[in-house]
Amino acid sequence: MLKFKKIILILAFAPFVSAQKNTGERAKWFVDDRLGMFIHWGVYSSAEGVWKGEELRNNNQYAEWIQYRNRISKPEYLTLLDRFDWESIDPEEWVILAKESGMKYITLTAKHHDGFALWESQSSDYNIYNKSNKGRDIVKELSEACKKHGLKMGLYYSHWIDWEDDRSWDHTKEVYGINYKNYDKYWQEKVIPQMTELLTNYGEISIIWFDMWIHHSRTVVSKEQLFQLKNLIRKLQPNCLINSRLGLSIEEDNDVDFRTLGDNQLGKEKYEYPWQTPATIAHSWGYNSRQDKWKSTSTILKSMIGNVSLNGNLMLNIGPRADGSLPYEALSRLNDLGDWLKKNGNSIYGSEAFDLRTNLHDWGTLTYKEINNNKHYIFLHVFNWPLNRVLKLTGISSEPKKIYSLSDTEMNSLNFKHKTVLTEIKLPKNPFDKYVSVIVLEYDKKPIAIKGLVAESVEGGYSLNLENYDFISGNGKINESKRYGTIPKNILVQKKQILKWKIFISEPGEYNVDSSYSFQENNDGGNISFEINDIELKQKFKSTGKTVGEPLQNWVIDNFNSNKLGSFKIKKSGVYQVTLVLEPNDKPLKWQWLWIKSKK
Ligand code: GLC
Repeated sequence: MLKFKKIILILAFAPFVSAQKNTGERAKWFVDDRLGMFIHWGVYSSAEGVWKGEELRNNNQYAEWIQYRNRISKPEYLTLLDRFDWESIDPEEWVILAKESGMKYITLTAKHHDGFALWESQSSDYNIYNKSNKGRDIVKELSEACKKHGLKMGLYYSHWIDWEDDRSWDHTKEVYGINYKNYDKYWQEKVIPQMTELLTNYGEISIIWFDMWIHHSRTVVSKEQLFQLKNLIRKLQPNCLINSRLGLSIEEDNDVDFRTLGDNQLGKEKYEYPWQTPATIAHSWGYNSRQDKWKSTSTILKSMIGNVSLNGNLMLNIGPRADGSLPYEALSRLNDLGDWLKKNGNSIYGSEAFDLRTNLHDWGTLTYKEINNNKHYIFLHVFNWPLNRVLKLTGISSEPKKIYSLSDTEMNSLNFKHKTVLTEIKLPKNPFDKYVSVIVLEYDKKPIAIKGLVAESVEGGYSLNLENYDFISGNGKINESKRYGTIPKNILVQKKQILKWKIFISEPGEYNVDSSYSFQENNDGGNISFEINDIELKQKFKSTGKTVGEPLQNWVIDNFNSNKLGSFKIKKSGVYQVTLVLEPNDKPLKWQWLWIKSKK
């Protein structure tokens, strides 16, 4: 019986095609699939981040850079191949792992910056097939395994940097100069032929992943060379995706299929075009025996969910050792990820951003999915289970049809109340999942987003601040937080400054209002006035004095204190505008936040 219900649940969600705008036909699968595996594996893997007893010469721990960082000569570099355990290296195992972890595609470093090809390259004998004398072609083995297990295969190819080919570029050329004619020879005699091989001999290639993280105008590569490369890919494999680290931004050439953000750089805002974060489980890409800053499973889940909630993807890296194996820390996180996705994958695959502000809710974040224009789902990812077991979703005026936990195969309804723009869901004591629980809200029509509201916090109050205002006027200067956040983000005001917010008050009653600011005058002065629904609370700024950030470091900073402004009564539930007027009368005032909370 249980099994039967499981099937219904899966069918109910499939098939999906993301409605994300500005996604080319080619990239539709990519946007739906959301999660991929990156594999950094090559000669450097057996160095394990150490060379002749010395650790990698860079704090970023990027073990695949050891040849360049530790100034290893070319002949010596290849001695690292002696440590490979060819008997146990099996790319199919990586494919199975990717699949079990919920990943839909794999991108392998076919040629990293060291210039060493992981396939039997005809145009350069600096490749695994020749140099290891083992007759192995890892690209071929991986492509066959991907086909067998139904995953897409992408290939990373370092086009601009190549430490093997003297005609190419490495950072040292900044000292010794670059010969552009020679560079073009490298391009025509190594890059173009190798790309042709990869795109001809290994079946379908779904992504060519380039890694020039600097715009071409600032590098040795010309726009013409990049177009030559792009056209070659379009000609040989018209469906293959190309990322923005080709060196052309997606804004400048919308034929580039997706944007790659910086390494481990997560999304902060929503984009309509496809984009992706390449991410590591610890920090190095290639295997590094010395790294110990492993991210937790929930950190990885939050990174993935956060990106999807902004229309983005995540490509999570593994750095296998020279025997193909992975450390337990990596495996355990991937297992957790796979388990989580088996239960909750519907909130990720084929899901996308919903039209509400990022960070609107402090309990987590949401994604959205629409199927055939008649089924609509909002998925709430709860990172912070409310102590009072009531989850409040603010900003959707449509009433959901049904609410349940995504991991509950029986789809048992959760009790809820819906009022105007607030859906309140009754939760059980224990979260549905040990990492991130997902709650599904089903709607008949596309749910309507009411923008510009500030949601109630899990603690039961409204924090109105410099991140979530709806309106601002005046010449105040916003200062970001400083000194490790001991000086909070604030707005420096001398003349009149007005800020407005919108909140939905569901419970009529009496509310307290506090405000945090710093006022360094000796006497009280100026005016702070708070207005809601024709009620005004007005008082002078109070002198807030100083505090000390750290002992014995001459670290005296301005106090930001919470001050009571008073209270107000609301008779009817509804959306209310809050207006704050700051008039310090030419004295410097640094304002931080308002806090509104029911007196109950
Ligand atoms: C950087 C590094 C490289 C790594 C890549 C992954 O560009 O140079 O070693 O492969 O990021 O995103």
